[in-house]
Formats: sequence, structure tokens, C-alpha cells
Amino acid sequence: MNRYSRIVGTGSALPGEPVSNAELVRRLAERGVVTSDEWIVERTGIRQRYLAGAGVTSSQLACQAARNALAAAGLEAREIDLIVVATSTPDYVFPSTACLVQKALDAPGGAAFDVQAVCSGFVYGLATADAMIRTGIANRALVIGAEVFSRILDWNDRSTCVLFGDGAGAIVLTADTCPGVRAARLHADGRQEAILRTAGNLSGGAIVGHPYLTMNGQAVFRLAVSVLDTVGRETVAAAGMTLDQVDWLIPHQANVRILDATAKRMGIARERVVVTVDQHANTSAASVPLALDQGTRDGRIQPGQHVLLEGVGGGFTWGAALVQI
Ligand code: UT7
Repeated sequence: MNRYSRIVGTGSALPGEPVSNAELVRRLAERGVVTSDEWIVERTGIRQRYLAGAGVTSSQLACQAARNALAAAGLEAREIDLIVVATSTPDYVFPSTACLVQKALDAPGGAAFDVQAVCSGFVYGLATADAMIRTGIANRALVIGAEVFSRILDWNDRSTCVLFGDGAGAIVLTADTCPGVRAARLHADGRQEAILRTAGNLSGGAIVGHPYLTMNGQAVFRLAVSVLDTVGRETVAAAGMTLDQVDWLIPHQANVRILDATAKRMGIARERVVVTVDQHANTSAASVPLALDQGTRDGRIQPGQHVLLEGVGGGFTWGAALVQI
């Protein structure tokens, strides 16, 4: 009998109250940083973001999203035998955020590890968990994208600090005799590592290098639109399907202009794209599962439908997964 993995529950966590562009503009003005609601909306489509308060960590947000996903799936945390957390803002250098989530959920014994593929992390984690379930290494997995990117932003750099937000999204993935995940494809081009990075590390009790995110926005933009198109087509073809069979497109939520350009290149109608970047800004590894949860909970994504999930980000990394709900 064929063995597949299938999504049986989704969940989200967003810290505190949303911070509108107007409020962010006011806060930045206090430090002499000039920006505007008009610029942010016109260039990115972002209208608000959630910013974690002091002491709120990726593992806490991951746990909250995981509990919501488990409740949706009707499963207990103790039934989970694999936890994969995609994050670039882990609580610690080690142990992994996944191990901290496992402890907080009181679900010891299964495998737990983090995936570091920046904004592609959730899709990388999903492809990894799918492979582990199909090969019998795991039966029931939590795949979580969780970030507190606000911690690695330079609040004096207006070209990056207005773009990101904090949050977490989670799915429960279980073994099944029918799919589920129909195909997944992952890629990276390490030659492009410098266009988006946080190039600092801990050494001798101090940060060595640069502790904040830096980005060549236009280079990232161009690459993102190109690879989201190609990997989306590659993944749909690998599933033996065609783009017109895709009910919903959920690309990484970085910029509404990237979402629009990707949908246009792929010939997918704008109404079939789940867009959350306006509400959440760019939450890196959390953006795809947050959008999947939103589209599921508001009733747009229906059982049996095909959803194309796409990640792209630092590394440079990209990937996609075609899932039947
Ligand atoms: O999650 C990882 C993936 N990340 C992304 O996908 C991000 C991809 N890149 C982008 O989304 C866009 O490139 C940005 C939104 C980052 C920038 O948009 P852009 O249209 O490429 O703008 P730009 O960088 O060319 O800047 C245009 C102008 C500049 O002024 P001048 O030189 O034309 O006078 C900037 O100084 O906008 C200025 N600017 C701002 N103005 C007001 C940059 N940031 C701001 C700001 N407020 N926050």
C-alpha cells in the first residue's frame, strides 16, 4: 500500500496587537528615520505587522501555533513523533527551537530539529517531514515556521525595518494511504548568499560581524519572481498535474508586487492567490503556514483542493510543495 503524508490541521500565532504603518512611521520618526504609509503601501502592499514584545521568543510563538494546529487536527501533542521548526531567529544557538517546543508541549521521545533556510524554511521543513513520513521514519509530524525577525532588524535602516513582522504558523502532517503532499522540490544557490543575510556570529562572548539583516532589495526581488515561477511549474509537473489544476497559490509573503508578478507569470488568477503580506508583513519562515492557516480558517481552502506552497529567501534558497488538502 502506498504511504503518503497529509496535512490534517493548521494553526497560527501572532504576538500582541497589530502595529499599523502610521504607528510605525511615528515610532521611526522619534529616532529620526523618515518613511511614510504611502511609500510602504505602494512599494510593498504592507499595511501592518505584529511585533513581539520583550521576552517573547520564537519557541513560544511556535508552541502557540502548534497547539492550535493540534486542536484543529484533534490530536494530542504526545501523539507527535517529529517536530521540525523552520526559523532564522532561534531562541538559542543550541539546543534547537524544536527541542524547546517539544519540552513545552510535553511531548518527549520523537525527533526534533530546526531547519535553517530563511524564508524558504517552512517549505524545506515540509518537504523533509514528508520524506520522513513516506519512508516510515515518522508517523505524525508538526512542521512549524516561527520567527521574531524584529530582533535582527536595524531600526535605523528604513529600507529593511518596515518590511518584516513576527509570528508563527504550524501544520500537523500525518501518514496516510492517499496524498497529501503530491510533490515537493527544493533548490539553493549559495553564490547569492550576500544579497540577503545577517552576517554575525557569537564568539568569545560577543557578536562578531554584523548583527542585523541586510538586503539588496532589487536583486532579491528579481530572483524571487524568477524562481517562484520556475519552481512552481517544476513542482506541479512533478506531480503529473497542470497549473490550471492548482486551486490556491500561496507564495512566500514578502511583497505584494512579487505575489502579483509571480501569479501573472504563472497564469494564475489573482483571486486564487492567498495574500496576507498586507496584514502580517514579511514573517520569513512563518509566512507560508500563516497564510495557509488563514485561507483554511476563513473557508477559502476546501478539502480536496490543491494548494501550491512556495518559499524563497536568504541562502539563496527556494522551493515548492503541491499539497492536496
Ligand atoms: O523575505 C526575503 C525576500 N525579500 C524580499 O522579497 C524583498 C524583495 N525586495 C523588495 O520587496 C523591494 O526591492 C523593496 C520593497 C525592498 C524596495 O522596493 P524598491 O521599489 O526596489 O525600492 P528601492 O530600493 O529602489 O528604493 C527606491 C527609493 C530609494 O530612494 P531614491 O534613491 O530613489 O531617492 C530609497 O531610498 O525608496 C527609498 N526608500 C524609502 N523611502 C521611504 C527605501 N526605503 C524607504 C522607506 N520609506 N521605508
